[in-house]
Parts: sequence; structure tokens; C-alpha cells
Amino acid sequence: MKKLKVGVVGVGRIGRVHLHNLVRGIPEADVVAVTDPRQEQARELARQYDISAVSPDYDAMVGDSRIDAVVLCSPTSQHASQIRQAARAGKHIFCEKPIDLSLPVIQDALDEVDRYEVQFMVGFNRRFDPGFSKAKERIEAGEIGDPHLLRITSRDPGPPPPEYIAESGGLFLDMTIHDFDIARYVVSSEVVEVYANAAVLVDPRIGELGDVDTAVVTLSFENGALGLIDNSRKACYGYDQRLEVFGSRGMVQVDNHRRDSTLFSDKAGAHLAPPLNFFMDRYAEAYAIEMAAFVKALTTGSSLPVTGEDGLRAVKIALAAKKSAAERRPVSLSEIA
Ligand SMILES: NC(=O)c1ccc[n+]([C@@H]2O[C@H](COP(=O)([O-])OP(=O)(O)OC[C@H]3O[C@@H](n4cnc5c(N)ncnc54)[C@H](O)[C@@H]3O)[C@@H](O)[C@H]2O)c1
Repeated sequence: MKKLKVGVVGVGRIGRVHLHNLVRGIPEADVVAVTDPRQEQARELARQYDISAVSPDYDAMVGDSRIDAVVLCSPTSQHASQIRQAARAGKHIFCEKPIDLSLPVIQDALDEVDRYEVQFMVGFNRRFDPGFSKAKERIEAGEIGDPHLLRITSRDPGPPPPEYIAESGGLFLDMTIHDFDIARYVVSSEVVEVYANAAVLVDPRIGELGDVDTAVVTLSFENGALGLIDNSRKACYGYDQRLEVFGSRGMVQVDNHRRDSTLFSDKAGAHLAPPLNFFMDRYAEAYAIEMAAFVKALTTGSSLPVTGEDGLRAVKIALAAKKSAAERRPVSLSEIA
């Protein structure tokens, strides 16, 4: 079997997760190079994972004729130009979310993907979480009837550093974007209107950067269903990730994952272990399944499970939420160009 030759671009928080899964968990993939402007970090990871090449920069990586596909884990600001460059070099692309913060820039990059007929997938890992996948399967099978209400609670254990926030596009484009994608995915309908309310309650420095850290977003779907997402950048008890879809014939719920499920009771009350600490732990399985799905599609010629269009639509919802919170009114998706 011909292995997929992969280059990993950016080996920060998420790049390391994908690198680890590609090297340790996916025999059909062969990571032939990594690149990161933090050269020492890239060299250290290459040593650790026994990767033969550290490309001096991205140009060198896309110029490497051995590479079939790039996995873009660089900061969001770099994605669009790296996509265009990879497409022109005939490399398939896995790109972390969000593709970019601007719809025309995303469209431009996706046009280049189409023009050069390369394959493209966005990193919406939650779709591959076994709990969320199962919920989707039950909804698709009609087990809850018509979906009426969606509730998502998505709270981080702590905010990222200010320098990350400054580049991230803000809460809706950086964090809630996962919730917008999973909302479209499980309800199987497009969002038509967004009403967002947001505040700075966790850290005033986030407000000074022009961002928010707490939000409530209501969604209206094309099929008539209604959704509610609540977000916080800081849940003191850990990474709080819950989902519920309620329909005419039943309800499906996905709860937090804990280190163990033992319920201990004493005079003070009943105690459960806190939720798994953060995305690297909570979604470890999802990241592994996601990357395996990318490699499998490219090695078997099947279609990729998350498309550029999915990436674009989630950004569109996020931009609507940002506008809604700023203007304190419901915003129709048709207003967002
Ligand atoms: N799917 C998820 O759950 C998830 C989780 C975290 C981050 N992300 C996304 O992944 C991307 C990276 O986030 P992160 O948290 O890993 O950030 P990070 O800052 O930890 O890592 C980014 C890495 O990219 C490197 N880099 C900078 N410019 C580069 C360039 N031009 N080419 C190659 N590498 C470059 C940096 O030196 C750094 O090592 C962001 O788009 C973020 O939104 C997704």
C-alpha cells in the first residue's frame, strides 16, 4: 500500500497532537517533514518522532516533491496564504479551524483549492468525537423525531494567553466556531439567524484586546429548530462540554468526560471527578479519528468528511454572532457577505 507522505506545518499546541497521531496511530501516513519558525522546537519534535526532515520554512515544505499533503497547524492568520500555496503546488490540505477570519479571503483560498483540484478538509474535530457522532447517528435515524431544541454548553478551563487572543479573531471565531459547526452538523440544517449577547467577566485584559470571554448565542435553523449555546473562557472546574438535542420523539444528550465515573458520597455531599481538563484530553480520541479519516480518504480516494464549505459556513455564523453582539440585535445570515 502506498503511504500518504505528510508535512506538518506549525508544531504548537494542536500541531503536536496531529503529529503524534500521524506518527503513532496511522500506519497509512508517513510524516516526512515538519516546519515551524521556532526551529529548535521543530527539531526537538522531529528528533522525538524520528522524522527525517525539518523544512527551513513553508516554501521549502511545499517545494518538497515527496510530500502529498500538508497539515496546517500554524496561526489562523497564516492559513489562507498557506492553502493557496499548497494548492498551487498540488498538495492536499488539512487545515485547522478557522480557515481565516474573512469570507472573501476564505473564498479565494477555496477557489484555488478547486482550481488545482486538490483535496481539502477543515479541522472540526468534534464531529469525530464518538459521543457526538453517536448523537448525530440517532438524530439522522429519526430516533428523536424532528429536532426542536439544541443546547450546547462549551466552557474552557482557562483563557489562552493575550497574544493568542489578539490574533485569534475573538471568542466567536476562535472558540464558538466549534459549537457553530457541531450545531449545523447534529441538527442537519443551516443556521439562518443568530442573536448573541456577550460580556467580559473573566479577565479585563480580554476586554482591553477588544474581545469578550462570556457569551450566550441563540440560533434559528432553516428547519425551524432553535438552538442555545453558552460559552465561557474560564470554568473553574475544568473543560465543560455538553450537548443536548431535544425532538418530537425524544432527546439525546452527551455529557462531560471524566477521569473515572465513580460517585463518592460523604457527609459533605456527592463527589464526581472533574471533567477532563482541556481539549487535548477531552477530544484526544476525536483528533485521532479525525486525522485517520483525512488519511483514509486520501489513500482510498473517498470524499473528505469535512469540506471547505463547512469551514466557510461556520465562519459566516461566527461573523453574524460578532455583529449581533456588537449591535445588540438578531442578525440574519443573509446580512453577512
Ligand atoms: N481543532 C482544535 O481543537 C484546535 C485547538 C487549538 C488550536 N486550533 C487552531 O490551530 C491553529 C494553531 O493554534 P495553536 O493553539 O496550536 O497555536 P500555537 O501558537 O500553540 O502554535 C502555532 C505554531 O505555529 C508556528 N508558526 C507561526 N507562524 C508559522 C508559519 N508561518 N508557518 C508554520 N508555522 C508557524 C508557531 O511558531 C507555533 O509553534 C489556530 O488556527 C487555532 O485556531 C484548533
